[in-house]
Amino acid sequence: MDLLSFYPDEQAIPSSVKLTSDYEQREYLINGKMLSWHGPMNPVVSPVYIREGKEYKQKIIGSTPLLTSTEALMALDAAVEAYNLGQGQWPMMTVSERIRHVEIFLGKMREKRQEVVNLLMWEIGKPQKDSEKEFDRTCDYILDTINALKELDRRSSAFVQEQGIMGQIRRVPLGVALCMGPYNYPLNETFSTLFPALIMGNTVVFKPAKYGVLLVRPLLEAFRTSFPPGVINVIYGRGRDTVGAMMETGKIDVFAFIGTNKGANELKKAHPKSHRLRAILGLDAKNLAIILPDADLDNAVNECLLGSLSFNGQRCTAIKIIFVHQAICEKFMQKFCEAVSKLKPGMPWDAGASITPLPEPGKTDYLKNLVEDAVQQGAKIMNEQGGTTVNTFFYPAVLFPVNDKMKVYYEEQFGPVVPIRAFAEEKEVIEYVLHSNFGQQLSIFGKNSKTIAHFIDTFASQVGRININAQCQRGPDTFPFNGRKDSAEGTLSVADALRSFSIRSLVATKINEENKKIIGNIIRNRESAFLSTDYIF
Ligand code: G3H
Repeated sequence: MDLLSFYPDEQAIPSSVKLTSDYEQREYLINGKMLSWHGPMNPVVSPVYIREGKEYKQKIIGSTPLLTSTEALMALDAAVEAYNLGQGQWPMMTVSERIRHVEIFLGKMREKRQEVVNLLMWEIGKPQKDSEKEFDRTCDYILDTINALKELDRRSSAFVQEQGIMGQIRRVPLGVALCMGPYNYPLNETFSTLFPALIMGNTVVFKPAKYGVLLVRPLLEAFRTSFPPGVINVIYGRGRDTVGAMMETGKIDVFAFIGTNKGANELKKAHPKSHRLRAILGLDAKNLAIILPDADLDNAVNECLLGSLSFNGQRCTAIKIIFVHQAICEKFMQKFCEAVSKLKPGMPWDAGASITPLPEPGKTDYLKNLVEDAVQQGAKIMNEQGGTTVNTFFYPAVLFPVNDKMKVYYEEQFGPVVPIRAFAEEKEVIEYVLHSNFGQQLSIFGKNSKTIAHFIDTFASQVGRININAQCQRGPDTFPFNGRKDSAEGTLSVADALRSFSIRSLVATKINEENKKIIGNIIRNRESAFLSTDYIF
């Protein structure tokens, strides 16, 4: 298979996915104003190469502003001012009013679906169906967040009485949030922290991911016009020039970050008063699949294929190592490699294409190196053409048998390399999980309930989610999403995120006639936004 032949020439690109706009982006959003940058720009290089005669050229689709610490600090000041020590218009607003602003944004966002989906394909090489799914899932997430907040508010509108004291407990914002997302879900993962942060009354500085940056541009105007000035500020540039400077001021109260644990650690350390910083982090993972001897092989193969190779393995939840019981290893391997050989390479917009170009510069070299290291230590590439590299294409490599001398045994490959190990005894798998630095999820495939139950009880203290006869995944988004060890800090789900970006505050008083009268007046006359029994429908 000639991977080069999958890169198109200009004429072969369907008009529906062609980028029409000029994507030299100079705008950034601070304090409700769209500012224009005249300094250095960062080219946005697509993972897609275009054939020109006999040559192949990587497509440059635009550029983004390389802002400096000066602009980052301006954005931070705008967010600090809009929060105004909790006295700003946004944090003081009623929940229903804040919901109204988010609904306005959502309406405007939906109008930009096609443009954002096209940019997802061009910027990060995500297949069209997955790009559409990411957009729709994000809109659903925002809508679910609104509904979860209504529910939370309804529950908080009641008074509690205990030991002669009555009180009302509500959730209030934390302050200024810095939200940063990853390149593999640049819309969904970022917005799944950004919107809970906003809707709970925090003000935000949002810095888009390293790749998947331009796709925020069609939404900038919607941000500007849907929220009061300073509530949402959007900046661009290198993390080391912008984010560190903001952290060092100590003015960030919430740090929402999806990336590496190394990066998160460094940034957290830059905050002068770390006890004032709440961190919500989605970090590295090395999720494993365990295939037991009685597993339904077709299902295990299908789920492991999706789990390890959808979006070329570039999911934090991807299955990144497979342990197969030796009794069925040969059969599993044969079926798995057969299934891999049916995956179609292509451009993100090609129907049915799932092996698409990788967006990170140097990524194919890194993966090649990982495979070579494993081969040197005794692994074989089990599938035809496994590991073939052409420009930004990396054909999936199935490696077997892997062992603890190989880098791929521990490192998160975040790409289309599938390491497989055969095991004879359960303790081999258990040792791996117990001593792993990561603890996000794992998948168990089998039928014997006793064996599965034993694994469940062993692993419940090790990972955030145990999947039975199914791949690892984040969804449904109402389920808690977290991790242990180096994999995460805090829990996200539609409802949990609202808690993560807020803190409880309560009004309490001794139950006596005078206090009842005061509280009654405040409520009847609607004198307070906090102390209220208003019910949001
Ligand atoms: O990259 C991490 C994503 O949160 C994974 O989400 O399991 O729905 O692909 P997913």
